[in-house]
Amino acid sequence: MTTRILTGITTTGTPHLGNYAGAIRPAIVASRQSDADSFYFLADYHALIKCDDPLRIQRSRLEIAATWLASGLDVERVTFYRQSDIPEIPELTWLLTCVAAKGLLNRAHAYKASVDKNVETGEDPDAGISMGLYSYPVLMAADILMFNAHKVPVGRDQIQHVEMARDIGQRFNHLFGKGREFFVMPEALIEESVATLPGLDGRKMSKSYDNTIPLFTSAKDMKDAISRIVTDSRAPGEAKDPDNSHLFTLFQAFATSEQSAEFHAALREGLGWGEAKARLFNLLDAELGEARERYHHFIERPAELEDILLAGAAKARAVATPFLGELREAVGLRSFREQVQVTTAGKKKAAKAARFVSFRDDDGSFRFRLLHAGGEQLLLSRSFADGKAAGQVSKQLQQGGELDIRSDAESFTLWLDDTCVADGPTFTTTEARDTAIQALRKALQPQGE
Ligand code: TRP
Repeated sequence: MTTRILTGITTTGTPHLGNYAGAIRPAIVASRQSDADSFYFLADYHALIKCDDPLRIQRSRLEIAATWLASGLDVERVTFYRQSDIPEIPELTWLLTCVAAKGLLNRAHAYKASVDKNVETGEDPDAGISMGLYSYPVLMAADILMFNAHKVPVGRDQIQHVEMARDIGQRFNHLFGKGREFFVMPEALIEESVATLPGLDGRKMSKSYDNTIPLFTSAKDMKDAISRIVTDSRAPGEAKDPDNSHLFTLFQAFATSEQSAEFHAALREGLGWGEAKARLFNLLDAELGEARERYHHFIERPAELEDILLAGAAKARAVATPFLGELREAVGLRSFREQVQVTTAGKKKAAKAARFVSFRDDDGSFRFRLLHAGGEQLLLSRSFADGKAAGQVSKQLQQGGELDIRSDAESFTLWLDDTCVADGPTFTTTEARDTAIQALRKALQPQGE
């Protein structure tokens, strides 16, 4: 059994050292476990809720994508994509919006905090609050439920959103599942052991405190930031107190236990702060120097990143497209074709009807069979890379019209626009072959003709 792990990164900033230690590095480590099936994505639709500066959105998407790849994310193992490349996500968002209770969303912390602030300052309670902010948890539920994630690694501030995804998913299951559980119930995963890095001033490293150490911009930027780490005023030669020094905490987050023990002892023995900062820089540069080069390689070749992300989107959509098809079916957004058969064909004709059965082959490709009412196979399609292409072909076949059937001694093939799309079974006599072709033509004739 593999565990599907899914998490999103909102694309509004440039990753710093705290993001690396707290989220990026642990996520990459987790993705390497043999039972992990990881889905990591850039939550760029979520970014639009918080930011209306197109240049910043674009820059941040690029930087975050480059950061994850430079840090060692293996896109062969992991499905890595941009949320906005998956049209099924906003579509699912709408299906979920229609079952999400407004009262549930009224209780979302982020929305409530904005209302409280407005009330405090005497504004209209909803001043400056967009529907995007209000519906934020529904979009996030769609991100999670679309791929049936088991575990969702997030910060504490996001636990409520994962719980809401469960609520909304459960309601959908209840209303439309008819005993089937469409959605897996996701669980928030809070990594207790992961380092929350202190920033330059000792408070949590965060963009909003302006106390961050840059990750990949340049060695010089990193050195400059390290030189600004606040320390006490003990002079070189005086014993330091490493256990109360956030410089030591930062060092520890990237060092082996031997390196930490050695640094600890040196500080106790009076290592000067200037020298201590130089050692911290050397440690970080040794861990991150190569990744920094890979980062700049990607930043300078955005087309390469584009290709990687589009390939990731195709992988994600191979899951999302057929699943959304089932969900549309479940809520009643169905092809009229089936209904026409039921209502106009009458019992006799319905009994004669053939049916299309789609399935996924062992190699992951999409195919379908056309089965006669009695169960015999009339056609087996060729392989299609995605469910949509397979669906389009079967749809086109159901429209009726002239069929391009090419036969040889033992079998026949079916062609659309000069491409072979399906094969017939193998026969021992040409008579049997022709009878089958006749049956096929009949099965694909529009009803009532
Ligand atoms: N809201 C998350 C955050 O700000 C980002 C996010 C969007 C997310 N969709 C998600 C996280 C789905 C986990 C799963 O951190």
